[in-house]
Formats: sequence, C-alpha cells, structure tokens
Amino acid sequence: MVKTRIAVLVSGGGTNLQALLDAQSAGQLPSGEIVLVIASNDKAFALQRAEKAGVPAVVCSRKELGSQEAFEAAISRALADHGVELIVLAGFMSILSEAFTRQWPDRIINVHPSLIPSFCGKGFYGLKVHQAALDYGVKVTGATVHFVNEIPDGGRILLQKAVDILPDDTPETLQRRVMEQAEWKLLPQAVQLVAEEIGKGKEP
Ligand code: GAR
Repeated sequence: MVKTRIAVLVSGGGTNLQALLDAQSAGQLPSGEIVLVIASNDKAFALQRAEKAGVPAVVCSRKELGSQEAFEAAISRALADHGVELIVLAGFMSILSEAFTRQWPDRIINVHPSLIPSFCGKGFYGLKVHQAALDYGVKVTGATVHFVNEIPDGGRILLQKAVDILPDDTPETLQRRVMEQAEWKLLPQAVQLVAEEIGKGKEP
C-alpha cells in the first residue's frame, strides 16, 4: 500500500514529533511516512529532531512573513512541494485560518493536552492548559487528538486518554505526566488510523 505523506507542524520542543518519529522507526506507523516538518520559528528544538531523523524541515514564521495570508501561502507551498496529504499539528502554536482549514477537511489533526471540551479553545495552549486544570481543581485530566476545523479545538474527536492529577502537581509535572501517559501514545495511534483511512481511499 502506498504510504500517506505526512507533515508535522511544530513550534517548540517537539516531543510529540519525536514520538511520531520513534513510532515510525519502530514500525508502528505502517500506513504513513513523515516527509516534512514545518516549524513556526527557527528556534524550535523540534528542528534539530527533524534534522537528526533526516526529515526535511522548513521554517514558516507568521511574524517574519508579515501577514496571515503570506504565512499560510508559505505553508501551502511547502506542503505542495512535498506532496503532503495529512497535516499533524504537534504543539503548533500559530492559528490557522478558516480559509486554510477548509482546504484540508479531515486532513488536519491536532493533539491537545486536556480532555476536550474542558480547558480548550482560544488561549488554552501549553502550560496554560495544565495551570487551568490545577486552578479548577479537577482530579483527572488527559489528552485529546482531534480533527481540526475552523473552531479552535472544536473538530471531531479521534482519541482521548485520561490521566490522574496528583496532590503536589505543578503545571510542569502535570504536563510531563500527560505527555508520557497520553500524548506520546495517542498521537502516533491516531496518525496511523487516519493515514490508513486515507490510504484505503486511494486504493483502486
Ligand atoms: C504539547 O503538550 C501539546 O499537546 C501542546 O503543546 C505541547 C507541545 O509539546 N499543544 C497545545 O497546547 C495546542 N493547543 P512538544 O513541542 O514537546 O510536542
């Protein structure tokens, strides 16, 4: 079966990108191939992970490019140049407009570090999500992998996993546990599921 061509969009440390690269090396992503990494800034450590894995990477910075249109045009060009069929947002902190997401229905997935619909939407990203969960006092949080549409964190849910909150948690300790117990497992599973479905759609 022809592998689905995947781009991973990142902004920071790239541990979720690493989980995908590791899954690919371990044969756990048989229906897909990571062909491109796009970083929203040139400082992203994720770029070093891409280089080490031998995956081509480009930087598309909203700030450098000056407008949302130019930013999304640069992303679209890179995706087209690499024949990308599935986009994975893995800690990508720039907003994609409705004009962009409409062009990729059921072809963009995102990992979010809470159990959607809790602690999600505009302004909830990274450590802020875990801070909000701790402030509220919930005893269980988790991660969600979902399709991306025009509503922030509002697309159809693919996979979710719950993670306990412990009494002495800080946003940092909680973030780490949610990554280890949920995100790094769920994201490769969800990417494989969607890549397989796309592959089936291409069969004669
Ligand atoms: C992850 O926890 C991811 O779920 C979160 O940012 C972190 C990125 O870490 N994403 C969001 O909050 C998106 N709303 P990473 O760069 O090490 O993968």
